[in-house]
Amino acid sequence: MACPLPHLLFFLFLLPFSGVAQTNGGNVSIGASLTAAAEAHSWLSQSGDFAFGFKEVGTNLFLLSIWYDKIPQKTIVWYANEGNSTVPRGSKVELTADRGLVLTNPQGDQIWKSDPLVGSVAYGYMNNTGNFVLKDRNLQELWESFRVPTDTMLPTQELEKRYVLTSRKTETSFSKGRFQLSMLDNGNLVLRTINLPTDHPNEPYFTSGTRDDNDSSNAGSRFVFNQSGYIYVLRGNGQRSMLGGGGAVSATDNYLRATLNFDGVFTEYYHPKTSSGNESWSVLWYEPENICTASVVTAGSGTCGYNSLCQLKTDGRPSCSCPRGYSLLDPSDQFSDCKPNFAQGCEDDHEQLYDLVELSNTDWPFSDYVLLEPFDREECRNSCLRDCLCSVSIYRDNSCWKKRIPLSNGRVVRTERSTAFVKVRKDINSSPPGPCPPDEKKPGKKHDETKAVVGSVLLGSSVFFNFVLVAAILLGFCFIYKRKDTRIPQFESVTDTNLRCFTYQELAQATNGFNEEVGKGAFSVVYKGEMNRGSGNFVAVKKLERLVQGEKEFKAEVNVIGQTHHKNLVRLIGFCNEGPNRLLVYEYMSNGTLASFLFGDTRPSWNQRIRIAYGIGRGLLYLHEECSTQIIHCDIKPQNILIDDYYNARISDFGLAKLLMIGQSQTHTDIRGTRGYVAPEWFRRMPITVKVDVYSFGVLLLEIICCRRSVDMDTSEVEKAILTDWAYDCYQEGTIDALVEGDVEAINDRAKLERFVMVAIWCIQEDPSLRPTMRKVTQMLEGVVEVNVPPCPSPFSTTILI
Ligand SMILES: *[C@@H]1O[C@H](CO)[C@@H](O)[C@H](O)[C@H]1NC(C)=O
Ligand SMILES: *[C@@H]1O[C@H](CO)[C@@H](O)[C@H](O)[C@H]1NC(C)=O
Ligand SMILES: *[C@@H]1O[C@H](CO)[C@@H](O)[C@H](O)[C@H]1NC(C)=O
Repeated sequence: MACPLPHLLFFLFLLPFSGVAQTNGGNVSIGASLTAAAEAHSWLSQSGDFAFGFKEVGTNLFLLSIWYDKIPQKTIVWYANEGNSTVPRGSKVELTADRGLVLTNPQGDQIWKSDPLVGSVAYGYMNNTGNFVLKDRNLQELWESFRVPTDTMLPTQELEKRYVLTSRKTETSFSKGRFQLSMLDNGNLVLRTINLPTDHPNEPYFTSGTRDDNDSSNAGSRFVFNQSGYIYVLRGNGQRSMLGGGGAVSATDNYLRATLNFDGVFTEYYHPKTSSGNESWSVLWYEPENICTASVVTAGSGTCGYNSLCQLKTDGRPSCSCPRGYSLLDPSDQFSDCKPNFAQGCEDDHEQLYDLVELSNTDWPFSDYVLLEPFDREECRNSCLRDCLCSVSIYRDNSCWKKRIPLSNGRVVRTERSTAFVKVRKDINSSPPGPCPPDEKKPGKKHDETKAVVGSVLLGSSVFFNFVLVAAILLGFCFIYKRKDTRIPQFESVTDTNLRCFTYQELAQATNGFNEEVGKGAFSVVYKGEMNRGSGNFVAVKKLERLVQGEKEFKAEVNVIGQTHHKNLVRLIGFCNEGPNRLLVYEYMSNGTLASFLFGDTRPSWNQRIRIAYGIGRGLLYLHEECSTQIIHCDIKPQNILIDDYYNARISDFGLAKLLMIGQSQTHTDIRGTRGYVAPEWFRRMPITVKVDVYSFGVLLLEIICCRRSVDMDTSEVEKAILTDWAYDCYQEGTIDALVEGDVEAINDRAKLERFVMVAIWCIQEDPSLRPTMRKVTQMLEGVVEVNVPPCPSPFSTTILI
């Protein structure tokens, strides 16, 4: 039997993107054309940095666009036909003299052309700057992609007054989004939302302050992203009002771009030009500082949808979530509006039918219809409960605002002193209709189903565990139990999971009849799927087999998994629980597993490996200490870490152990984990704690440092076969350079290398109490706290790795 769940293994190869490039110094002559197809040609700039052509963005969906051609992500910087942008296979773009670029569909109907155009085009030119230009015979520019920007600006690009950048709808949907960056007539550069489908703008949520009513010559005249990466507003008198970017990284060695993200954050990114293929875009600067609170805009919903709550992530980007009792209108879009799961009426016994859910540090600043003050907390709460028009009340400093839905600009901020009381109907779960009932949790009873299951593994004989290892039936207990303390970050504890309940039929459709298998484990098969065929919204559908848990337990566990939100975890989107079918739907990770990344043909760079180690550390810390329900992963190994589009490490399969339990019988004691990564306490009469993950993390960290597997029986040098032993030997003998085998980058970063090795040795201590917590581990890795000299990891016994 194979190791459990080698998940999404082959994703790396699944998104075909191919471009056979044509090089002619960037020139494109009249009559030249491109056709949308998987193996389509593109028009390259002279340097080869940028390509113009059709990029496949979904099954049979193409985008006429400009992208970075030399980096693996092929990041798109411009696209035609904004608003209704994708076209089917067989569509064609042609360069004509009279109409410029003309895009037609396979039927020959014109869909888009390069307006406005005055004069006759002599040739087109894909400039090395990323600007596609049409010129006339006198080499005058008639049309430039830089002058009809979409959501991204590139160095040397400028925005004159009235020009706008418009965000996309979502990360992967190129239709028109709600956010705009524009250079106004009054000289201000602003970020604001627009109300679709009209483009009516709301008040700005960011303003450059370069308006000057007294002296118009001094007002802002254009918005500049200069060649060195500086972003500023150029004033009439030549002064520059700097906004950000520039200086920090070299514009010659890095690609730079500034994108108005679909969530309204305008971000400058950089990406090394000469890459080993694994770098990602890093953030250089962004505005506004906090998108959740920046929007003091009375109209529009804010970055999240109506009734939603926004919380800032560490990368400056927002995360949205519905309050308890509410769910997403569009379950596939976290940024959509939240709808109440009940209808609120003015019943006679209103007060008895509803309950209030208290959310601290939370505010929806608008939509109030009455202000009561002075009023105390209890009065504020009760006043809303009794008032059948009231959906939410906000209490702060003896003031009480009663509000009606829809609520906008909801935010959760640690420094926010407001408390929100959200009204929910008590009996919303009493009538479960059909196979997909609404969420069953009752307000105030959120985690009651999640029973504490702390146990110990009682394994007497090593003969038995050898058998178990050889058989590799390494599945069993793992524990998700309710935290006893109250250090629960507010956000998770207040929000519903927003998990979507899918029907089996829907998932069969999404996966084209479970057609494309992308991973297989002992207890599950993973299929690639696409929600709403053609949307480009890919998912990974995991079909669980041999599940013997009851329906209720399944839902409880899935809810626990669904409540996790962290950038280093793979997100669960939904599930299906229909008859014998149990399926989980995850977001799709395009870059495969850490195993293929680490042990593949090209060795990832040292810096990349450091980032990945930090990411996994933070993800585990979150599972152990920061999410409302503590989760012990129990099977940390490179096959269970996936790599996302931005080369972030994302932990997968957490919380699954309980779902995959083989049998409920107590006589069947199983070991959860995988050979080489399992902590010794699994084999002893010792309680299983979060420290089992710390142990596995230590092994994984060594693998990340050394780019080799923890057990390598093929090696000619026996002393190197077991990585943990070899690493400790090297550390003791002062020869840690040997561990990275001539990786110059790592050797030059010796202090960090040594620190990482020491942390790993602390993690693999046989005595769990000696192992640090994940919090301490991340602090040590990041150099925040000193790392002491670690003791020998296994003072009592020989290795447990057989
Ligand atoms: C591109 O076309 C223009 C105009 O015909 C010409 O001046 C230029 O030399 C051409 N460049 C290359 C690299 O062929
Ligand atoms: C390409 O862009 C650069 C920078 O804006 C400009 O100086 C150059 O003239 C452009 N090349 C052509 C052929 O238009
Ligand atoms: C870009 O702007 C910065 C700040 O004003 C300036 O120092 C730099 O020289 C500019 N770079 C170029 C290429 O003009």
